[in-house]
Amino acid sequence: MTDEKRIPRHIAIILDGNGRWAKSRNLPRLMGHRAGLRKLEDMVRLVKREGIRYFSVYAFSTENWNRPIMEVTGLMSLFGYYLRRKVDEIKAEGARIRFCGRKDRIPDELLRQMKWAEDYTKDEKILDFIICLNYGGRAEIIDAVNSLIASKPQLPVTEEDLRKHFYLPDVPDPDLIVRTSGELRLSNFWLWESAYSEYYFTDIHWPDFGEEELHKALDSYAGRDRRYGGLKK
Ligand code: IPE
Ligand code: IPE
Ligand code: MG
Repeated sequence: MTDEKRIPRHIAIILDGNGRWAKSRNLPRLMGHRAGLRKLEDMVRLVKREGIRYFSVYAFSTENWNRPIMEVTGLMSLFGYYLRRKVDEIKAEGARIRFCGRKDRIPDELLRQMKWAEDYTKDEKILDFIICLNYGGRAEIIDAVNSLIASKPQLPVTEEDLRKHFYLPDVPDPDLIVRTSGELRLSNFWLWESAYSEYYFTDIHWPDFGEEELHKALDSYAGRDRRYGGLKK
């Protein structure tokens, strides 16, 4: 091994704790979501500076529709608002915005803005910024299975055959998955893709997650021994 620091090619972050961040300040939950979304632009810049090629965030799960309607509609309008406001700065960083998840249930206006942002940034090549919105790992696997069956594949199918039907088949599996705010679970994020991911958990709420925390996560990752079932190299 060289002395060069190991950097994940794909870092994924479960953006958790916006509600608790707001509560601790006696603010409404939506203010926490607003603070959380604001953080994303900084993180795109920091992640790019580290030379990471893929950055994915879990912004809204297929289960988050179960929240009170006010929170869900508030979140959808915040997504649209920040997308419109930040897309130019994100593009200027050389980042391509990609959405990952089911397209049903998302309000038409937001869906149009998502398509526009993807199209507007599609030629950027430094970083893929992947926003998992209305994403669920089980939904992705089921959608891939249905799409694979519809393609009338040759049997038996292989893992690679199925992978081709995932939402973003060209994106490599996450090397490092970070979850903020103390919960020690995946909550239906990257289920298939996380088979050999490394994890980093922190008690910090997402709106307070900054450069120092990112470096702690990356340092921890750099010291891991990834064996993939084999033996130590
Ligand atoms: C994460 O923050 C953002 C979304 C799930 C949309 P939460 O809203 O889950 O914050 P907590 O977990 O209630 O603190
Ligand atoms: C996971 O957070 C989903 C996102 C961050 C988008 P949740 O807050 O929804 O997860 P649970 O309910 O604590 O498992
Ligand atoms: Mg939460």
